[in-house]
Amino acid sequence: MIIKTIGVVGCGLMGGGITQVAAQNGYCTIVREASDELLEKGIGRIDSILAGNVAKGKITEDGKAEVLGRITGTTEFAAFGTCDLVIEAVTENADVKKEVFRTLDGIAPPHAILASNTSSISITELGAVTGRPSQVLGLHFFNPVPVMKLIEMVIGLETSAETVAVTRAFGESLGKQVIEVKDTPGFIVNYLLIPYLLDAVRLVETGVATREDIDTGMVLGCSHPLGPLKLLDFIGLDTTLYIADVLYDAFRTDRYAAPPLLRKMVAAGKNGRKSGEGFYIY
Ligand code: CAA
Repeated sequence: MIIKTIGVVGCGLMGGGITQVAAQNGYCTIVREASDELLEKGIGRIDSILAGNVAKGKITEDGKAEVLGRITGTTEFAAFGTCDLVIEAVTENADVKKEVFRTLDGIAPPHAILASNTSSISITELGAVTGRPSQVLGLHFFNPVPVMKLIEMVIGLETSAETVAVTRAFGESLGKQVIEVKDTPGFIVNYLLIPYLLDAVRLVETGVATREDIDTGMVLGCSHPLGPLKLLDFIGLDTTLYIADVLYDAFRTDRYAAPPLLRKMVAAGKNGRKSGEGFYIY
């Protein structure tokens, strides 16, 4: 099977990034948002990132126009009727994602692969709501998608070897390194990352160091590009809490128990960069 036309459900930070990278690599890309307003915002974001690349001399004006020309925005699921692969990148909520997968199953052609960009929800459960679980898998991209080189490919209990092979080839055609992991809560990256982030919040909570020194410790001591608290602000405190709760629910170990400070900050709307304040003010 050859993948030519991609569908992306959601044109937020992740869906928009996936749309941009697919179109930059020659794929006709259909992206769906819930309203014209959200669609305009999402495609506008892609436009300004590409404009930045033109200003830096990385692409030409013609190149930018070609990329944008490969993107079709829609508010209708019916537009996915011609896709070979549809990647879901809606909000991180199992019920919402299941509803999207049910809808996609009824619309995408029988040969189409359905992928989820979920960072924590079971791929096997998403596959189970469709009539094609062997063609369902996870494609977990990292933010910002155009910059981050990794895709975690998550293999559900029913995912077929053919689906894995075709999707790996697609991921590599985007210039990404693809790693494989069986469907397990948190996959590889969040299984390791979330306890580290929660521990950083515990250090703030117990007052043993300033947030600046906690971050500097990991930037200069371990060569991380961002310290844990800046990374929490970047990912979103609400998103991190959601993933931690999913992992806690699955494993029932203190490793994934969200500290009260994180829960309180989310309750107060201090969700990080996107809300203007988290551990730092933006
Ligand atoms: N979209 C596209 N390009 C972007 C971008 C975006 N949102 N943000 C930054 N860039 C590009 C810039 O244009 C710049 O490109 P050039 O080198 O061509 O000029 C490059 O990235 C570096 O950007 P800056 O110089 O502005 O800033 P920086 O050096 O601070 O780098 C960063 C920005 C790459 C985002 C860096 O801060 C970083 O690596 N952050 C960590 C990101 C990370 O860890 N992401 C994973 C989060 S975990 C996750 O996503 C999984 C999950 O499930 C929770």
